[in-house]
Formats: sequence, C-alpha cells, structure tokens
Amino acid sequence: MAIAPRMPLPNVAPKSLEQFVSDLTIGLSNPGQKELPSKYLYDEIGSALFDVICLLPEYGLSRAGMRLLRRYSGDIVERLPERVMVAELGSGSGQKTRWVLEALARRQRVSYYPIDISRSALYRCEMELSHMELVSIVGFERAYIEGLREVAARRREGEAMLVLFLGSTIGNFDRPAGDQFLRDVRSVLRAGDALLLATDLEKPVSELLAAYDDAAGVTAAFNKNLLARINRELGGDFDLAHFEHVARWDESERRVEMHLRSTTWQCITIREAGYRFCLREGETIWTESSHKYDPQEVTGMGDRTGYRCHGQWLDTEWPLAQSLFFAA
Ligand code: AVJ
Repeated sequence: MAIAPRMPLPNVAPKSLEQFVSDLTIGLSNPGQKELPSKYLYDEIGSALFDVICLLPEYGLSRAGMRLLRRYSGDIVERLPERVMVAELGSGSGQKTRWVLEALARRQRVSYYPIDISRSALYRCEMELSHMELVSIVGFERAYIEGLREVAARRREGEAMLVLFLGSTIGNFDRPAGDQFLRDVRSVLRAGDALLLATDLEKPVSELLAAYDDAAGVTAAFNKNLLARINRELGGDFDLAHFEHVARWDESERRVEMHLRSTTWQCITIREAGYRFCLREGETIWTESSHKYDPQEVTGMGDRTGYRCHGQWLDTEWPLAQSLFFAA
C-alpha cells in the first residue's frame, strides 16, 4: 500500500542554501576551533540515523523522555489552563508528543503545530500522529522562534499556548545561549502560557561518553554524515576515510562535545560555496555540544528568563528532567 504523506506547509521557507553556505564558511574560517552548526546534522539521512541512535542501549535519553511523558502526561495536562493549543519546537518523530496530545484530547479538541526546519521530520511526525482523533496538525517548516511567532498568531480567543521542547535539544546551546533561547520563547508567550522543557541531567562521564560514541558506530555515522551532506548538497570533496568521530566531556562547561578529527594533513574544496580550507593532522571540526544539567539549575534558568516552574518530573533510570514552566 502506498502511503501518500500529506502535510499542509503554509508558506515554505525561502531557500536555505545560502544560509548553509554562509554558516559553513564562517565556522570553517574560524582561526581557532573550526566548527559546523549542529542543526545541519539533521538532513533526511541524519534524522534517520538519529532515530537509530534512540534505539541504542547506550543512549537512554529519548527512552527516558518517553517514560516520563507516558507516566506523567496526565499530571502535566491537569496543571494546564482549560483551553490550550500546542506548539512543538522540533517535531522529532512525534512519539513522545503522542502521550501529551492523548492526555489533552481526553478533554478537548487539540490544534497541534510542530515546527521544524526539516521537512522530512515534519512528514514523519504527521505520519506518526495524523490518525489521532480530535487532533489537527499543521506543520511549520521554519526556524523555531520564527515558527513560534506564526503559530502564536493563530491562537483563538481565550486559548493558551503550550510549547513543547522535548528532545533536550536546549542542550545544544551553551548556557548563556540557552538562557537567551528561553527568553526568546518567552517573548512570544503571554502570561499563563506554558513551556514543557526536557533537559538531560549529569551522570557518570563513562556513561555519557558511551552514549555519544556507541559500539555499533551509529553516532560516528551520524556525525560523519554532516561531511557527506556537504559533499552531496554543496559539491564538497571530503574524504570520510580521513576523519574520525570523537566524543569528549568538557568538565568546566559540563557538556559532551562531538568533533570530527582529521587523521591527516588535508585540504578540502566545497565547490558550490567557492570555498577551500585545510586541516592539520589531529585538528578537529566541532559539530555539536550536548550540555548536561542538574534539576535545580533548570528551575533557575526558568526563574532568570521569565518563567515560574510548576512541576518537575525526573527519570531515575536515565537521569533526565521534564520541567513545566508558566510564563510569569
Ligand atoms: C537531539 C540534541 C538531544 O544532544 O543528545 C545524539 C543529539 N547527538 N547523539 C543529544 C545527539 C549525538 C541529541 N539531541
């Protein structure tokens, strides 16, 4: 049976290729640590690899998020205002969201607006959730805050907004940028609106490193796919055999970093960007950070950025927090 994905995409974003080129040349021209923004890890292949990461025994993060929502969505929904629309930052696969939407749909019709820069992620999310009764889905192929503004413009009289940020994606921002992001979200909200935020918590370093450098090499493939993507989309000539995946723990920043280390002296040309650069043997390109928190720290982040925490749920098997904030 052929399944035709249908996802209403109001006003598809203008071509983001120039943005990719400019982000890439800026990051690779950095005189110190070269870097590439982690959001580019998630093309169709990267997103599929990330789904596999979530199945790995070493990577407990998404299962923990899922367990918490399965158990506590009822409690969470009870604390929300009577009529809410739902916006989600990063639609992901939709699996965790299902529990929240089900709990809400027990008491009301739900308008659900996933926001994601990846069209394929939006399609998959719609596939996962479209059959839910009483839930209508409209996806926004947008950057988070831009999408959130558009979603907020659709709110009806007397309707509050629940914003979901479930994947612990806030961990990709460094701490000051994480605060700024929460402020940016707050600027779109009204008093009484809610934000449900997942944050991965600190745990033994050996467990963290294994989670980001798994035995089967899926995370390594996920990381290297960024170079393959540049080859595919921008005519790069990265030879993936000359790079290795590295996961390291930065103790002072309390984050796992992913890098791609050049195993040799080499120069790379990215045709469509009109750009060429060289790497020394052992030099790395920093591709992602994943900050880890403690529960009180998360409450404090909310306090500083215009929210009050109305509940926090912790997974004990894989320490992770779901925190419910209300816009103060
Ligand atoms: C989707 C950003 C939460 O930081 O754990 C997983 C991405 N990178 N393995 C994370 C990721 C490598 C993930 N987030």
